Amino acid sequence: MKKHFDFLVIGSGIAGLTYAIKVAEKGKVCLVTKNTLAETTTSYAQGGIAAVTYEPDSFEKHIEDTIKAGAGLCNEEIVRMVVAEGPARIKELIEWGTNFDKNSDGNFDLAKEGGHTEHRILHHKDNTGYEIQRALTRKVKNHKNITCLENSFAVDIITQHHLGEVIKKTNTNIECYGAYILNLKTGKTDTVLAKITMVATGGTGNLYHTTTNPLIATGDGIAMVYRAKGKVENMEFVQFHPTSLYHPGYRPSFLITEALRGFGAILKTRQGIEFMEKYDSRASLAPRDIVARAIDNELKISGDEYVYLDCTHLDKEELINKFPNINKKCLSIGIDIRNDLIPVVPAAHYLCGGIETDENGLSYIKRLFAAGEVASTGLHGANRLASNSLVEGVVFADRAAKEAIRLFESGISISENVPEWNDDRTVYPEEMILITQNYKELQQIMSNYVGIVRSDLRLKRAFTRLEIIFRETEELYRKSKLSQQLCELRNLINVGYLVIKMAMERKESRGLHYSIDYPPKKNL
Ligand code: FAD
Ligand code: SIN
Repeated sequence: MKKHFDFLVIGSGIAGLTYAIKVAEKGKVCLVTKNTLAETTTSYAQGGIAAVTYEPDSFEKHIEDTIKAGAGLCNEEIVRMVVAEGPARIKELIEWGTNFDKNSDGNFDLAKEGGHTEHRILHHKDNTGYEIQRALTRKVKNHKNITCLENSFAVDIITQHHLGEVIKKTNTNIECYGAYILNLKTGKTDTVLAKITMVATGGTGNLYHTTTNPLIATGDGIAMVYRAKGKVENMEFVQFHPTSLYHPGYRPSFLITEALRGFGAILKTRQGIEFMEKYDSRASLAPRDIVARAIDNELKISGDEYVYLDCTHLDKEELINKFPNINKKCLSIGIDIRNDLIPVVPAAHYLCGGIETDENGLSYIKRLFAAGEVASTGLHGANRLASNSLVEGVVFADRAAKEAIRLFESGISISENVPEWNDDRTVYPEEMILITQNYKELQQIMSNYVGIVRSDLRLKRAFTRLEIIFRETEELYRKSKLSQQLCELRNLINVGYLVIKMAMERKESRGLHYSIDYPPKKNL
């Protein structure tokens, strides 16, 4: 079935919802999400959202911290813009109903995380993302111009390719007309046509076996845009969070927020020895690439499966009050954080690269915007500063909405000749194991060969092995009716390919990309 809208938004996290609320002031919006509106990575965010609020903090300090973490690859203009516009966007989140914690004096209770030289993280206890998602979801649900389609999976964006044109990589005039959307309840694929499309599909954590990301994070937006011959960059910069709860068999891995180290928690080996000073003078609060590599190294030396995070010396009442969610989760598996050490391991957490966009979130493909974790805006460079992701999401959603409205008001028409999805000659795969086994293999390849520490040989092995599951999966895809599992596997393979390829091309160690074949230069 064909559906017509002014704006199509794919994704219901902080970026997609913020953008949808804004463009809905001017036209009819279709918001699609493959799960429920609330099942997003945004909902899992713990530590908070970084912005300059009070002295002694300043824009210059936040800019400097962001650029320093980014290891020479941040776009300074973009950093300045996000830092300067962040406070206004946070004010808007508050006006839309988000609550951030305050002290008894009425000021925001600001937390500190790795790489920040000041306390500047606004938060809601240790479940900031859940609170933001709650407020935005309520606003979207009440908006008369927004049609929300849950359990609706975007398969591919529609371009001239679907009108029969041959599109070359060098084509500078690719246009987006909407997307094919698989209804996961009925199995039917609709053609959703829109004058302007926003891809806000989040990250790619499920490329790896151990990840803090929820199951929805399968890189769909990046894969769709790559297949449509859009531009994707910086994929080698995969951020591993140093401290996820060691709890084998449970996915996603539960995050133990960096704000806990900001509050004074200390990393120790299983023998109870502090080790971070050996690696960085900022110890447990060094930027997370350094901490994750240090833990990885300690685990390789000791052969242990985890290190400990020690909170037992901290004020017990304040600890429980500030981190109720972590306390509850740990208690549920028999760990009392006031008295016991918390076992932690690094886990894939965030992708710094993605769909290349300009300062307004516009991608290389015309009428197609990208915002949030799916986008590569120039803010993070080779390594994201903690809590800079939520703020990037709101700033770019706002800028993209303004630019999209400008384009929309300049008058855009859509071709009526876009064909419907045709799956007449395909069948449902007979064995799910063909999909699930390749999914597991992909995660093994990425975790074993393309993790925190890389080498030319490991990357070459990853590439060779990925080629096999790529060919098998493409063949299955051609013969099969669409299913969420098969599409996600195919997308993750596309994204894995991009990570490996860009990692192979980077002949140096920089930020999150660390290769034993190219020892790091100072400050990279
Ligand atoms: P998401 O919130 O991931 O939303 C993506 C949306 O796209 C979802 O609705 C999903 O269902 C939908 N989608 C995906 N593919 C498709 C498809 N094919 N079809 C239809 N819909 C699709 N950052 C911070 O700044 N501060 C923090 O404290 C912080 N804590 C974090 C804690 C955890 C545990 C994790 C995992 C991340 C954390 N981050 C934090 C990172 C941050 O939460 C994310 O980068 C950010 O929320 C991403 O928002 P988004 O809008 O881009 O995407
Ligand atoms: C955390 O709370 O440690 C995560 C913050 C982030 O990923 O920005």
